[in-house]
Amino acid sequence: MKTVDTLLVVGLGLIGGSFAAAVKSAGACRQVYGYDQNKASLEEAEALGIIDYGCESLSAGVAAADGIMLAVPMLAMKPVLEQLSLCLPSGVLAKKVITDAGSSKKALLDAALEVFGEVPPWLVPGHPIAGSEKSGVGAAKATLFQAHDVILTPLANTDSLALAKVRMLWEACGAVVTSMDPCHHDEVLAKTSHLPHFLAFSLVDTLAGNPDNQDIFRFAAGGFRDFTRIAGSDPIMWHDVALGNHQAVLEALDEFTEGLQVLREAIVQKNSQSLLGIFSRAQSARQHFSSLLESRKQRVKPLPDSVMTTGFSGSVLIEGEDSDKDVMDTMKESTQTFIASPGGSISGELRVPGDKSISHRSIMLGALAEGETVIEGFLEGEDALATLKAFRDMGVQIDGPYLGKVTIQGVGMHGLKPPEGPLYLGNAGTAMRLMAGLMAAQSFDVTLTGDHSLSGRPMNRVVEPLGQMGASIETSEGGRPPLKIKGGTRLQGIEYHLPMASAQVQSCLLLAGMYADGETVTVAPGIVRDHTNRMLNGFGYTVSVDGENGSRVAIKGGGKLTATRIDVPSDVSSAAFFMVAASIAEGSEVRLCHVGMNPTRSGVVEILQLMGADITLENESVVGGEPVADLVVRSAPLKGIDIPERLVPIAIDEFPVLFVAAACAEGRTLLTGARELRVKESDRIQAMADGLIALGIDAQPLSDGMMINGSGNAASEKKGKPVFNGGTIDSHGDHRIAMSFAVAALRAKDDIRILDCANVATSFPDFAGLANRAGMRIVVKVNTSE
Ligand code: S3P
Repeated sequence: MKTVDTLLVVGLGLIGGSFAAAVKSAGACRQVYGYDQNKASLEEAEALGIIDYGCESLSAGVAAADGIMLAVPMLAMKPVLEQLSLCLPSGVLAKKVITDAGSSKKALLDAALEVFGEVPPWLVPGHPIAGSEKSGVGAAKATLFQAHDVILTPLANTDSLALAKVRMLWEACGAVVTSMDPCHHDEVLAKTSHLPHFLAFSLVDTLAGNPDNQDIFRFAAGGFRDFTRIAGSDPIMWHDVALGNHQAVLEALDEFTEGLQVLREAIVQKNSQSLLGIFSRAQSARQHFSSLLESRKQRVKPLPDSVMTTGFSGSVLIEGEDSDKDVMDTMKESTQTFIASPGGSISGELRVPGDKSISHRSIMLGALAEGETVIEGFLEGEDALATLKAFRDMGVQIDGPYLGKVTIQGVGMHGLKPPEGPLYLGNAGTAMRLMAGLMAAQSFDVTLTGDHSLSGRPMNRVVEPLGQMGASIETSEGGRPPLKIKGGTRLQGIEYHLPMASAQVQSCLLLAGMYADGETVTVAPGIVRDHTNRMLNGFGYTVSVDGENGSRVAIKGGGKLTATRIDVPSDVSSAAFFMVAASIAEGSEVRLCHVGMNPTRSGVVEILQLMGADITLENESVVGGEPVADLVVRSAPLKGIDIPERLVPIAIDEFPVLFVAAACAEGRTLLTGARELRVKESDRIQAMADGLIALGIDAQPLSDGMMINGSGNAASEKKGKPVFNGGTIDSHGDHRIAMSFAVAALRAKDDIRILDCANVATSFPDFAGLANRAGMRIVVKVNTSE
């Protein structure tokens, strides 16, 4: 199918001019005509080569074009539609494709209704989410829409061919096109774009009227500049938006005013708990929103370098950008590259962040308990925050995290409320699989979504057994997310023999089992982490465990959870990076404090000890049902081993960094029985093999593991010699791959550049900071698209 042959752009301001320029430079139409009431704009557009031809009158242009873009201010939309209706008989107009770029879709549809008596099928309403504080055709640029969203809001009667052509035009401009209901569009834009602009205008206006305004503006710090940048936008356009999207804007302003009153009251009352609640909720929502943008960015197809100069600015819902570079830098979303320099040793006392598995579970059970649950040591990483946010979205009051402390007002087993939209779980596979079990038992429907990586991960492993329990869950092709879970179904207990040793599957079924009739029994083929059973017991819910190595776990439905205190130990999976780092870097000695030593998680310590690592446990104790210890690790010569398969499930997340240890060991290391590694945040067998080989290691990926011929250790004559070449590694957005190669740099000849590292924040916020304090040399390069 071809898009339109001849395009007329009506209104040659920034948006119209940029659209004409983008269509023309993409060669998407044979001819691009322009029309603007303002003769100077028309001439400038012609002189700049943005259009092929400037039309003297609207009727001449309309007659000649078969596609028309209305890029006029919102309040001019109705008069322009009136003129259109006078230019040509309706039968002729119906053969054309007409679209617009206005910020309120309801205003356009109302105007069309008044002019034509109905919304004509050839009218395809649209709205590009891009702009600049600069206005006029002189500021137009062909790249303005590259990798930006365009929302089309077709109605039931919209002609599908017209819709397809408009979509193609925008895609030719490099935009990412989505569809939405027009009223929903107006509400979303009112909150996310219009409201911030009005607040910025209002704040500057208020302060400008202050007698101290000279000093206020002279000493305006980053906060003021960031917040008010968009007050530099076009007043006429925003006047039109305020009136055009009148209803939705008023609702957004009212909602905001209410929130401001709550904040004011908290300040008046000096209510620290309320203030910290507001600020920390906002901070975590902002972090969640950043990672959402980040994952969207990674899904957008890569653009040529020349285009990336404007690129994706993170302005998904910000209109107006690029005017003040240094301010914008703080607003941009980024990807990260780690540049890890060679050499160094590891020392000091380190406390790595809280355990991810336990943090997820503490939110889930705390939310469903009766009473107030207080969690200390909570992991403030994006994965656990995604779970926290999801439960807030279901009406649970959760304060924090503030310095690792989270307080949850539990709503009881049946107290969750339907969320307003899909629950976005970012990169967090644990959140999705465990929550699938809980959500299948609620009275309302829920959709669980995730980022690009999570959207590719297999979910049938939970969907199938939940189906046997009576749950109704729809997935995308191949059993991938999103998961559309139907509420209101009665679950039945089952006995399920897991085909793989997966704690996520077992936990999912146990959580569903709390709501099921009768008993739910899970039998795992190996040892899996048992945090769910332990924590359920801690919340007063009985779980019975028997069978070889505790592989048979059973729960009866109909019980309740009683709030408790939870002390989350440091994550052994995060500590593993420093265990390997200290083992392979000559002259190292490090104490890793308060690390979770649950026997279903501590396989990494056993494997490293089998390889000859010098690791001792001190200060062993049990906190909240979980064993913890300080680990003292000193550098030691490592040797290659055949890793016993029984240890695989209890060290499953640590293999990326164990491969780095194996490369530094003397002799061959063989891992088998670890097929699960292929379906983690990335295919960890392939990603690690590719990276190791790129750094000169003799590594061979196997279908269910890896063989590595290690090339040296610190005790031989070649004491501490480099093992890895320098080079560039793709982490595939997998946190553990990224951190593993950063550790490898301790024994590298040259810098190791590790791409796509932003997801390190999912499990280990400030990994680079802690690693550098311990003696590593990692520079984090934030790659904005500027
Ligand atoms: C986890 C279980 C493991 C692990 C994941 C966390 C959990 O996954 O890899 O990082 O918290 O239950 P599987 O259950 O798929 O093995």
